[in-house]
Formats: sequence, structure tokens, C-alpha cells
Amino acid sequence: MSQVSVLREPLDIIGHLLSFEGKQDPYPLYEQMRVHGPVADVAGAHFFVTGYAECAWALRASDVLLSTDAGVQDLRLPGWREHASWVWLTRNMLFSNDPQHARLRRFFGNAFSAQRVQAMRGLVEHQAEAVLDHLAAAGADGAPVDLVAEFSYRYAIGIIGGLLGVPAADQPGMRSAIGDITLALEPIGDPAVLAPGDAAMSRLAEYFHALLARLRAEPGPDMTSAWIKAADESGDVTDEDLVANLMLLLVAATEAPQDLLSNTVRLALEHPHLHDRLRADPEFVAGFLEESYRFDPAVQVLNRVAATDFEFFGRAVTAGTPLTLLIAAANRDPARFPDPLVFDPARAENQPLTMSAGSHYCLGAALARMSVTAVLPELLRRFPGMTLAGPGTFRDQIVQRGHAELPVVLG
Ligand code: HEM
Repeated sequence: MSQVSVLREPLDIIGHLLSFEGKQDPYPLYEQMRVHGPVADVAGAHFFVTGYAECAWALRASDVLLSTDAGVQDLRLPGWREHASWVWLTRNMLFSNDPQHARLRRFFGNAFSAQRVQAMRGLVEHQAEAVLDHLAAAGADGAPVDLVAEFSYRYAIGIIGGLLGVPAADQPGMRSAIGDITLALEPIGDPAVLAPGDAAMSRLAEYFHALLARLRAEPGPDMTSAWIKAADESGDVTDEDLVANLMLLLVAATEAPQDLLSNTVRLALEHPHLHDRLRADPEFVAGFLEESYRFDPAVQVLNRVAATDFEFFGRAVTAGTPLTLLIAAANRDPARFPDPLVFDPARAENQPLTMSAGSHYCLGAALARMSVTAVLPELLRRFPGMTLAGPGTFRDQIVQRGHAELPVVLG
């Protein structure tokens, strides 16, 4: 019997997905899950969703499907209150449900409107130039350079750090803390795995409390200073809310953009015949980026839990049941995308779920797009001979999936 004809059960597929090898290339495993239909389940106790329409619906149904807030964690991860990582995560907007989510999103959301993001262009372009200079110096001797550390991370944290008022000198030292915090988002068997995320979160919380004190005394032109003023005037946003959401913004605007930028550059280097168009045609760059989002997303899985009993595409879901939304699989659903396994930057009506949908739709989506489109053509202009110096490895993570290292030579 050939490998292909073996029908694996959903739990067996998830077991493989959670192995290190599975995370290096999860895409064949998603296709195995799809064989069970767009909504697979384990005896009705856990649902795994690979369909695009089904995932999109679930993300928009925040009345019946909850994000992982404190109440959900009481059900899913007893003892979580002893872990600083999740104590702080459940205070941010991403891991909240209404009314807390609406309150926090209203307060922080305006700063990332399309108009406000346009006004960030100068800062973004300045960071692009600075990181390209840094990369040129790092690879000047012709030896391979790690694109993740020397380019993607520095660029992403340079932008959000500049916006939040985190001094440039503090940014390089935050890399391991940010990475450790994203580990807390992985499916957790043994809560002991939270230890690095707990330590990192406690350190970062202390850092942001001190930043608040400094900027309250001496405000700057940054977003944090503006939020401190607004919070002090309105009285309905506490310092704890500020710290939790500043940490969310720092982590969300560093790790996922770092991973997506690395994936997008890798895909560009794998398609050298497209470089002339990527250098010259901004519309083509926008399409290329969207297809990179679809094809190799930096966030592969989102979790929701049923708030009540309800019917989901003909299936009975009972209150408290988890739904694992495999959005990276939904991005390759043949019912939504023709030839889904083909990388096609000219794809029409491309709307991957990489940035989510509904009320938790990524707050930084416009900023993330502007950041990549501002740097990718310039990277290819500046280093026309750049090539991959190896296949690159992926971290041992599936929720926040990205390259551990991606060696390139500048040429
Ligand atoms: C390019 C890379 C990015 C990706 C792939 C990404 C992905 C996501 C996803 C999937 C969610 C929603 C999760 C859910 O529905 O449970 C989300 C939410 C969020 N993202 Fe992003 N993001 C990116 C960049 C950014 C940037 C640059 C920022 C900050 C400026 C940001 C800030 C946020 C915030 C604050 C939320 C929470 C929104 C809410 O709960 O209402 N993200 N992001």
C-alpha cells in the first residue's frame, strides 16, 4: 500500500504536526486532515477546521466562539494563574472577549487607522534604509549572513520600537524575550514549558512599567506618551492595561512581521525571474506579498472555544468545546483558491486568513503591509546578486511559525 492511500485519523495527524519534523513542513499534514472534510473532529470533543469558508465564519462569530480569555483558560489550562505569561496575555485585547476586548480595541485601535499608518511612512523608510546599511556591513566579506537576525528582526523591532518609544539601544536585547513569549502560544501539554515565557514576560512587564514612569514624567512624540495622557484623562484604562497591551504590540509587531518578511524574501529569492518586476512595479509587489501571506503564513493556527451549544456547518458543537482553526490549511482550500499549491503572485481575489478576520482582525495589518512593500524592492535593488546559502530551518513552533535562521549571501 502506498503512503498516500493510508487514511490517518485526525489525532494522529495532529500528533505529527506537533513533532519537530511536522513543523518544518506542515503542509502535507494539512492535506491529510482535509481528507476528513473541512471540519474534522475527535468524537465531537475537539474540532479541527481546514475549510476556508468554515474558518472565516468561525473568526467572525465572536458571539459563539471565544478567544482564550481568563474564563476559557480556567477550563483549558488549570493552574494557569501561576504563570506570568498567561496572566499578562489574558490582560491584552487579543486574549479578551467583549466587553473587555471592545474597550481595549477602541482605546488602542485608532493609532493604527489607515490614515495614521500613512503618517508612519517616514519612520518606516528611515528604518528600511538603516537596516539595509546594517545588512550590507554584516555581509560585506561575502560570508553567509542570517537574514532573520540581521535583517527581519532588526527591521520589525526598529519600526514598532520607534513608534512605542522603546530606545534603539534596548531593542537588540529583546529578541530572546519576544521569542520565549510566543512559545506560550503553542499547544501546551505540560505547563512547565511555560517557564521561559513566564520569565520573559515578567522581565518585559518590569521594563514597560519603568518606561511608563519615564514617559509620564517626560513625554515624547511616541504612541506610549499619547496613551499615558489619554489613560490618565479618561480614567478607564489602567497602567496594567497599558503594560499588557504594550507588550502585545511589541511582540505582535516583531515576531510575525519578522517571520513574514523572512518568508517573503525567501520566496523572492526562490523566484529570481520575478526580481525585475519586484524592483519596478509596486502593484506586483503588493500581489506578491499577499500571495506570500497565503502560501507560507507566519501564524498557522488560531484557537477558539464554544461559548454555547451551536450548530457549525451541520455539526453539533457543545459549550466548552475547542475548535482549532488551521488557517494555513484554509489558505490552501481548493474550494476557495484555484491551484492552491501553486505560488502565484498574480492570483486574483486573494484574501488569505493570515491576519485573521472579524473583531480580532490584525490591528497592525496596514502597517505590516507598508513595512514589507517599503523594503523588498529596495533590498533587491541594493543586492541584485543575493542568493540563499542554504534551505533555512524553522523554529519548533506551529502557532507562530517562522525561520529560526535563513542564511543568505549578498553576492
Ligand atoms: C505581518 C505580520 C503579522 C501577522 C501575520 C499578524 C497576524 C495576526 C493575527 C492572526 C491576529 C488575530 C489572532 C486571532 O484572531 O486570534 C492578529 C491580531 C493582532 N495583531 Fe497582528 N499580525 C502581524 C503584524 C502585526 C503588527 C505589525 C502589529 C502592530 C502594530 C500587530 C498587532 C496586532 C494586535 C494588537 C492584534 C490583536 C487585535 C485584537 O485582538 O483585536 N500585528 N495579528
